[in-house]
Amino acid sequence: MSSYPLFQAFPKLQRLPRAGLLQRATPVVPLGDSGDVWVKRDDLTAADYGGNKIRKLDLLLAAARAAGATDLVSFGYSGSNFVAATAWHGRKLGMTTHGFLLPQADASYVADNIATSLHSGAQLQVASSERGVVMAALARSTRLLLRQRRWPIWIPPGGSTALGSLGFVNAAFELKAQIEAGLLPLPERIYVAFSSMGTVAGLAIGLAMAGLRSRIVAVQVVDRTFADPSKLDRLIERTRALLSRYDALAAPSAVVPIEIRTEFFGEHYAVPTTATRRAIERFESDSGARADSAYSGKALAGLYADLESGIATGPALYWHTFNAHGRPPGVAPLAPSKLRAFLSKP
Ligand SMILES: Cc1ncc(COP(=O)(O)O)c(C=O)c1O
Repeated sequence: MSSYPLFQAFPKLQRLPRAGLLQRATPVVPLGDSGDVWVKRDDLTAADYGGNKIRKLDLLLAAARAAGATDLVSFGYSGSNFVAATAWHGRKLGMTTHGFLLPQADASYVADNIATSLHSGAQLQVASSERGVVMAALARSTRLLLRQRRWPIWIPPGGSTALGSLGFVNAAFELKAQIEAGLLPLPERIYVAFSSMGTVAGLAIGLAMAGLRSRIVAVQVVDRTFADPSKLDRLIERTRALLSRYDALAAPSAVVPIEIRTEFFGEHYAVPTTATRRAIERFESDSGARADSAYSGKALAGLYADLESGIATGPALYWHTFNAHGRPPGVAPLAPSKLRAFLSKP
């Protein structure tokens, strides 16, 4: 496990435990022959199950392990990348995940994520409302408390706590090292999907700390109730406060500019618009990487729209957050009959 570049810059942060999920910097590569656009391949954060969640889980699972946790409670839509990543990597560290899910529209990755969670021993439960999800999680946690005398660790949706967001503060320092190594120029604009907000919060702080004056273009991919500018401000504040607790000099006084873009969401979570479909096709042929209809496809629709309209003229970076691998080795496909219970009614 190589050292975090963030910890090299601020050694007092080394007291934060890591689970060792991230082995090396993710590649940064030019996007096709587009000239001034690069891709940060966070789909390759881990060799078996990658994506942006691994950066958060590296810290979150280490903290849970340090607290002696045996059981984790995780939340998301049915096909949640976060629940699947928690189940897969948590199991390798000896922890069982209990996933509480909201039904969603089907998409290419949903069955694979459910299969990955179930293969990892996760206990999944679907409820039709947010309130139902929380009530089910409370009931399960109470049962675990009675049986094991231990309340499970609750991890908020997407792992977007202050601690989880620090994973993306580190990611900005990783990018700085790649810019200094000449792998790409300083991006004027960084395009990334915006959902539970930890990715954007961490990058906004980390870029400012690393002295990289890029603008973040946060492409909203979930309903406003989840991704909301005032909640983002609070998450940034909490993450800065956490940094300050470890090193009084670490937190920056201001973050880089964040532009939240809502026009690529469409009507519903995970349901592609025509622009989403076109963007996925174009990106997959330009990069050879896989994209999805809930997150990366919508962020890419934003990138391509800005390239075409001339809004993005200088160097741009697209941060690719989707897991590259689909089902990890040894995970069998989910039977279609089992999928139905996890989907919303059309
Ligand atoms: C593939 C993918 N990309 C992007 C995101 C958005 O990241 P965040 O939840 O930190 O905003 C998520 C998480 O919801 C995701 O699963």
